Amino acid sequence: MARRNDPAWFLFGAMVMLLFAAAAAAAAAQGCAPANFQPGQSFQRCTDLPVLGASLYWTYHPTNGTADLAFRAPQSSSGWVAWGINTERPSSMAGSSVFIASLDGNGGAVSVLMTYLETTSPTLTNGTLKLDVPVAPVAEYTAGAYTIYVTVALPGNSTQQNTVWQAGALSGGQIAPHPMSVSNMQSTMVLDFLSGGGGTSTGAPSFEVHRRNLRSFWGLKRSPPVMKGYHMRP
Ligand SMILES: *[C@@H]1O[C@H](CO)[C@@H](O)[C@H](O)[C@H]1NC(C)=O
Ligand SMILES: *[C@@H]1O[C@H](CO)[C@@H](O)[C@H](O)[C@H]1NC(C)=O
Ligand SMILES: *[C@@H]1O[C@H](CO)[C@@H](O)[C@H](O)[C@H]1NC(C)=O
Repeated sequence: MARRNDPAWFLFGAMVMLLFAAAAAAAAAQGCAPANFQPGQSFQRCTDLPVLGASLYWTYHPTNGTADLAFRAPQSSSGWVAWGINTERPSSMAGSSVFIASLDGNGGAVSVLMTYLETTSPTLTNGTLKLDVPVAPVAEYTAGAYTIYVTVALPGNSTQQNTVWQAGALSGGQIAPHPMSVSNMQSTMVLDFLSGGGGTSTGAPSFEVHRRNLRSFWGLKRSPPVMKGYHMRP
């Protein structure tokens, strides 16, 4: 058996580190494959969101605290997709300001509803965002995916935001509640717009973001500490 200070251990360690580096590079590259955007739209960073096949592309401007972004998610033409920021709390739909894209009835244009979700049964009133939107959204539906382009002022001028995204069906042209599948329940993530979640310009920082997201994701599922027998002790 090799002892810890043997060259074999060193080699093993180096290989493990190489594997991690390769994984980080792969994570950074995902979703950053050359993507077609509308003319005049390009982004410095992107990340594959962990569920629903969605990706987020963005450019963060530290001087004015805004982010130009594109949210892309696959969906049938009879469905809707949404992306937003929760200004109240992480890991929650209620309290989010969201952009919901859907195709108009007659296969026409894609419209974007900008609404604050008061509860998990929101009224979906247009124009109620609790975010500043210096450049109004536009959206497109191409090749089985919606893309929402918008510029937002990051709330509190903070680069870390509670992001949410979602996909669901339309019913009679109206936005119907999203499914309750595991993926639809896990579509939240704390994203740092500065350090990035993958991107064409950086490699290493994105890995840290991925790990942090993983932690907070699992953090969600951990049950609160149970104080067993607390009341029974003298
Ligand atoms: C946002 O914060 C940055 C520093 O992180 C600062 O330079 C900038 O002026 C702030 N912008 C606004 C709009 O408050
Ligand atoms: C919401 O209002 C904006 C204008 O403020 C408009 O451009 C947009 O089409 C509206 N969205 C819907 C779904 O009606
Ligand atoms: C924010 O600053 C960038 C350059 O740093 C500029 O291109 C962009 O237009 C600004 N956005 C707003 C909404 O002022």
